[in-house]
Amino acid sequence: MFHDPKHHIKIYQGDCLEILAAIPENCVDMIFADPPYFLSNGGITCHAGKMVSVNKGEWDRSLGPDANHEFNRAWLAACQRVLKPHGTIWVSGTSHVIHSVGFAMQQLGMKLLNDITWVKPNPPPNLSCRYFTHATETIIWAAKNSKSKHTFNYQMMREMAGGKQMKSTWQIAVPGRAEKRLGRHPAQKPLALLERIIMAASNPRDLVLDPFAGSGTTAIASLRNGRAALAVEFSFEFAWLGVRRAVAELAAVVFRATGSANSLDAVLPFMDRSDPQISPNRMPPLTKLVQRECRFYFIGSACREVIYSTEAPTLDDAWRAFHQCSRSSESVFTVIKTETEIYLAQ
Ligand SMILES: C[S@@+](CC[C@H](N)C(=O)[O-])C[C@H]1O[C@@H](n2cnc3c(N)ncnc32)[C@H](O)[C@@H]1O
Repeated sequence: MFHDPKHHIKIYQGDCLEILAAIPENCVDMIFADPPYFLSNGGITCHAGKMVSVNKGEWDRSLGPDANHEFNRAWLAACQRVLKPHGTIWVSGTSHVIHSVGFAMQQLGMKLLNDITWVKPNPPPNLSCRYFTHATETIIWAAKNSKSKHTFNYQMMREMAGGKQMKSTWQIAVPGRAEKRLGRHPAQKPLALLERIIMAASNPRDLVLDPFAGSGTTAIASLRNGRAALAVEFSFEFAWLGVRRAVAELAAVVFRATGSANSLDAVLPFMDRSDPQISPNRMPPLTKLVQRECRFYFIGSACREVIYSTEAPTLDDAWRAFHQCSRSSESVFTVIKTETEIYLAQ
């Protein structure tokens, strides 16, 4: 569905078992997998203060413990085949799936390296009041086999932990609005979690694979950290969300509006979002301006509508063009100049 050869990002829509079978063996440096949790079976949870059913979708329905384990073993074996000899795999899950994943990893001869406990600072309350609030997920980190010499960027993790060895408990908030602004996935992982995983266990230009890509979080985190990414997602809707997120990482539109007499900044504070120091989103370096358009909108005094618009280098040129148009006799309230600049990450 998406291929950016410049940044080596590919998003495929399809069944990961079929797509993994078409990938050559021993070519992937690191895998992050967030498989179905098999927990959408009619239970209840709390979302935004409301009681809702735990129904993430058909993809999350349990097939029974034996069939679930067979599925886990099949995709883990497919991942193991494409991993390089020293490559590692990270798998996240709740208790519904993670024990089967750990057992399948042992059955396949993988080397278990760590199990990370991802602690969510603001978990939804448990409405039944018969259990502890579910506030964690487990992420198992394993190497391809017992002979693997895995990558671990120890020093970087130590610096991130304030000069101490990083522990296996990571407190990271669930994704906020900014990360969901292009669409929602019911199981979306936070970018901060994926960025930490990628920084810990891979190097720039390494190839990172996500067989259950969902909204494309792994691909976005890879892009931000200079890794190549290959993401596979079964659902068209979610894969398309991943494409939108990837495109939003690679292109930005800068828009400025100035009134002819009075600055519009008084109404809408001006902010140059092309400046990475100011931009709230960490964009990749925006170095190349590929498109600039300067357009003038003439607003009528009587109707308060755009009565004429033209692309012109200066306001004087725009006025000259306006005087030639069919509505030049109408009184002009103001002229708004817009400048659009499109930058593409290089
Ligand atoms: C837990 S979600 C992943 C969420 C993802 N980590 C994110 O940040 O958005 C699991 C995803 O796997 C997808 N999926 C389920 N079975 C699949 C299969 N056989 N092949 C590819 N994708 C599959 C589902 O559609 C779902 O989007």
